[in-house]
Amino acid sequence: MSDLSSTLPSPNSDISVLIPLLLSQLSDIDTAVILTHLPRLYERLEHLRSAFNPSVRHCIAIKSNPQIHLLNIIVEQGFGLEAASMEEVEFALEAACPPEKIVFDSPVKTRQEIAKVSQLPNLLVNVNTLAELERFPRQTQCMIGIRINPLTHIGSPDLFSVSLNESKFGVPISERESIIQAALDYPVRALHMHSGSQMRDLKAQGRALKALGELALDINQALAHAGLDRRIECLDIGGGLPSESLSQQSKMKEYARLVHSLKVLESFTLVTEFGQWLNTECALALSRVEYVIQGEPSKLFIHLGADMFTRDAYTQARAFPLSLWDAQGLALDTHSLQAYDIAGPLCFAGDYVARHTRLPVAQEGHWLCIDHCGANTYALWSRHCSRTVPAQWAWDGTQIQQWRSRQAVRF
Ligand SMILES: Cc1ncc(COP(=O)(O)O)c(C=O)c1O
Repeated sequence: MSDLSSTLPSPNSDISVLIPLLLSQLSDIDTAVILTHLPRLYERLEHLRSAFNPSVRHCIAIKSNPQIHLLNIIVEQGFGLEAASMEEVEFALEAACPPEKIVFDSPVKTRQEIAKVSQLPNLLVNVNTLAELERFPRQTQCMIGIRINPLTHIGSPDLFSVSLNESKFGVPISERESIIQAALDYPVRALHMHSGSQMRDLKAQGRALKALGELALDINQALAHAGLDRRIECLDIGGGLPSESLSQQSKMKEYARLVHSLKVLESFTLVTEFGQWLNTECALALSRVEYVIQGEPSKLFIHLGADMFTRDAYTQARAFPLSLWDAQGLALDTHSLQAYDIAGPLCFAGDYVARHTRLPVAQEGHWLCIDHCGANTYALWSRHCSRTVPAQWAWDGTQIQQWRSRQAVRF
């Protein structure tokens, strides 16, 4: 992976520079717009790369932001991609990701999909169940891994925890004998574990990783005992860290230290699959303020809601940094603030981006900036009410460029 630090513009390029630039490019139909902040992306890629030993392969989870230009840049910087569906494998190939840097993790792969990825040299395909192993040809070019459910609670919110007893993901680690037998019977070369998103308990994750490493060592012993040359070579330890601002004391650095302190992992090639940690802070969205309805609190109606912030509307909304700008892109004076509920445009009662948030006095034609919306937002775009997907732009620290025009939704 290349050293990015010397050539890149400052990641703190102020949004007060890019917002007027962006607004000046929009037309009347652009009621909302999404922008990727590349200096922030480069800074986070570099932070991730340098937190771990150089041999660790980082495959960024496409599902958190599948924008093709973004994927291209991630690949250009030497990173790999994790695909949750065959469509995402196609995106990764389109983004020129070499097969050996692609991980395919769909829990419901078809026979046709398996036949196709089996021909891609060293693409890591993680099976979700042992039954899936039977679908692979005996001679396969890809690397087969078994997803293991470590049966630990790493402190994720229930909706994003995938490593409890009833999880549909992976083979429970308690089925040790069956896993070892499967690794003897099929050409398995990797184990995989993704404990869940927004993990808070690194100690529990450490125990899960240790158990995974011990299982891999046991498998290798069984393979050696059976006189087979094949070994588990690779451990894919998934993603799962929440977003954070960067510092020497970041959770990512702490996590990397934990991973590298585990002796049982030392002899394996490690793969990670971070999504939201990388992408969250790397995009912002702007929506025109359409109506301001006075009340206690006042309601501010905008053009993005449960369509873009689907997960937030249906579960618990994240605390997106919000700011208000005038039609020319000047920040509104923050001396006098008012409480607002931020209502989205969809016809259902739960469509709010934020409640009781304090902002400058708003009026029709102002723009609301919703920052830190790069992960699990646009990627989950909901077709409810058939509203058009906004155009996407990118800021490179000096200029902006359109990545994609508005896309109408058709059923
Ligand atoms: C298998 C797998 N890997 C990686 C990820 C990315 O997780 P996160 O965005 O929390 O890092 C997910 C998220 O659902 C996942 O299911």
